[in-house]
Amino acid sequence: MSQPLIIRSLRELRAQIWEWRGSGETIGYVPTMGALHEGHLSLIKISRQKASKTVASIYVNPAQFAPGEDFDSYPREEQSDIDKLTRAGCDLIYIPSSSLYANDHSTYIKVNGVGDGLETDHRPSFFEGVVLIVMKLLNRVAPDVAIFGEKDYQQLTIIRKMVRDMDIPVKIIGGPIARDAHGLALSSRNAYLDEDGLCTARQLNKILHRCARELAGELAGELAGSADIDESLTRAKADIIAAGFDSIDYLELVDSRSLAIITQTPFTKPARLLVVARYKGIRLLDNCAAG
Ligand code: PAF
Repeated sequence: MSQPLIIRSLRELRAQIWEWRGSGETIGYVPTMGALHEGHLSLIKISRQKASKTVASIYVNPAQFAPGEDFDSYPREEQSDIDKLTRAGCDLIYIPSSSLYANDHSTYIKVNGVGDGLETDHRPSFFEGVVLIVMKLLNRVAPDVAIFGEKDYQQLTIIRKMVRDMDIPVKIIGGPIARDAHGLALSSRNAYLDEDGLCTARQLNKILHRCARELAGELAGELAGSADIDESLTRAKADIIAAGFDSIDYLELVDSRSLAIITQTPFTKPARLLVVARYKGIRLLDNCAAG
């Protein structure tokens, strides 16, 4: 197992990327906030298939946490993350040694359309922080391909749009959601769940997939009238609360590309069903194709 380079300064990062480029290597990149799980490692695997060198970064981005959110307590496990990335075959781990924001940072990017609604209704400045750091990291690493998980489906869609709108020379690839044996979407925040929380959380994907199949018409024989979107969503929301969740931020059927909310059948495919539910303040995200 070869050891990845661990680089903490921008100067060294750029020098290494230039050296690789000079010898004809291609660069795949997986940005992370650490606390790595199999989901992240599956993105590293995709990167290794798409490029000859794989770079991962670990940076807990303060700009995407609102006051009162878990920035201070966000799990930081540098050595174990480095070990995981080493085993996954990463070639370079970029761990910036200091803040990536100058004290007088004053440039912001807003992705309209796909950036409106859904997460933004609940975390109004979240995507402002995400696009900022992704833009900065893409400028620093200058990869050929960058891989983002489909679990954060709106984030992935926004990044694709920003890259297209801003002519950033990188191909964005979405990595399928990694799930545990019970179908729970892997997330660094699952570590916050107690035992009951884990049982509840594991119901979410089942309810989501059942609702998606219903919406896609696959259960039409079983459930008369299932084509009514509002009815299906209302039923699924009741199931989510019955499973033990405290509240639901949203459960929406959206157009997979524009993220426009779909309220009427028949709808244009591909469509995606997105959910965020809360258990004791822990937000759990999931989504799946719905036809
Ligand atoms: O999805 C994440 O982990 C973060 O939002 C990202 C893309 C690494 C930016 O901080």
